[in-house]
Amino acid sequence: QAGLNRVAKAAGKLYFGTATNPEQFVDAPYLTVLSNVHEFGQLTPANSMKWDATEPSRGVFTFDQGDKIAALAKKNGQLLRGHNCVWHNQLPAWVTDGNFDAPTLSSIVETHCSTIVKHYKGQICMPYILFRLHSWDVINECLNDDGTFREDVFFNTLNTSYIATALRAARRADPKAKLYINDFNIEGTGPKSTALVNLVKSLKKQHVPIDGIGIQAHLIVGEVPSTLLGNFRRFTALGVEIAVTELDIRMTLPDTPELRAQQKQDYRTVIETCNAVRDCVGVTVWDFTDKYSWVPSAFDGEGDACPWDANIVRKPAYNGIVEGF
Ligand code: XIL
Repeated sequence: QAGLNRVAKAAGKLYFGTATNPEQFVDAPYLTVLSNVHEFGQLTPANSMKWDATEPSRGVFTFDQGDKIAALAKKNGQLLRGHNCVWHNQLPAWVTDGNFDAPTLSSIVETHCSTIVKHYKGQICMPYILFRLHSWDVINECLNDDGTFREDVFFNTLNTSYIATALRAARRADPKAKLYINDFNIEGTGPKSTALVNLVKSLKKQHVPIDGIGIQAHLIVGEVPSTLLGNFRRFTALGVEIAVTELDIRMTLPDTPELRAQQKQDYRTVIETCNAVRDCVGVTVWDFTDKYSWVPSAFDGEGDACPWDANIVRKPAYNGIVEGF
C-alpha cells in the first residue's frame, strides 16, 4: 500500500503531513497511523505551540505539550512545522487585555517569537533535506477576506509593524527555519490573496525575512476554487515557497456516497495543483481522521472532512490524494 508521504516524495515533494495533538497519542490505532512515516513525513501541532499553550503568563514559557509532538516527530523521523508565533486566536488574556503601549507590545511579540522559535531550533533536521525545513508559521491569519489587515490587538496597537518584528525575531532565533505567513481563503484568486501578494512584496522590498506562504485550505466539498493553479503560481512567482498547511474538505452532514466521491475528486484537485507547482513543497492535512477533526466544533452541521473516517478507516478521499500525486 502506497502511503501518502511515500507518494508525495516519489512526486518530488518534501513531505505529506498531518496536524495532531498530544492528547490523542493514547489512542493506539491512531498513534500507529500517525507514526507511520510512509503516511506522514511531517507533523504540525494543532494547538500545542500556540500562545496560550506556550506563554500562559508574561515571560513564563511552557513547552511540555509542544515537546511531546517534537519528540514523536523526532522518534518517527518526521519533519516538524512550528505553528504559530502570532495569531489573534488562542491568545492568553494577559495579551488581549493588557492595554500595552506600542513599545511594550512590540517587545512582547519579539520575546514570544524568539523564545519559542529558539526552543525548537534545529529539531528534526534530516540530513537529506538540510536547510529546507523545518518551518514556522510566524504570522497566522493577519488579513481579512476583503484584503484589509485584521484589526486584532497587534494591528490596533502596532499597525503592521508587528509582522516585521515577528519575522525578524524568528530569523534571528533560528536562521535555518523557513518563515511563513499562513492564512485561509487565499487558495484561489481574490482580494485576500492579492493583499497577501502585496504584503510579501512589501516585506521583501524592506528586506524583512519571508520564505513561504502557507495556504491553509479549509475547503468545502464541491467548492474548490477554480483559480487554484494560477494563484499558487502567482505566489511562487514572488520568490517564496508555498505549502498547503491545513487541508481539510468538509461537507454538510449527513455524509453520502455522492459527497464522498466529490470529496475524493476535490482532494485530488488540491494535490494535483501542489504537484504541478515546483515550489509547492508539501501538503499537511488538519488531522487525518474525522475522529479528531476540528470541523464539527467550528462549523455547525458540517464534518467528515478528513481522508480517514472516525473509525480510522480510509475513505475515497485517501485514494484521491494518492491519485493526485
Ligand atoms: C484549530 C484547532 O484545530 C482547534 O483544536 C482549536 O480549537 C482552534 O484552532 N486555522 C489555524 C489553526 O491556523 O490553528 C486552527 O486550529 C484552525 C484554523
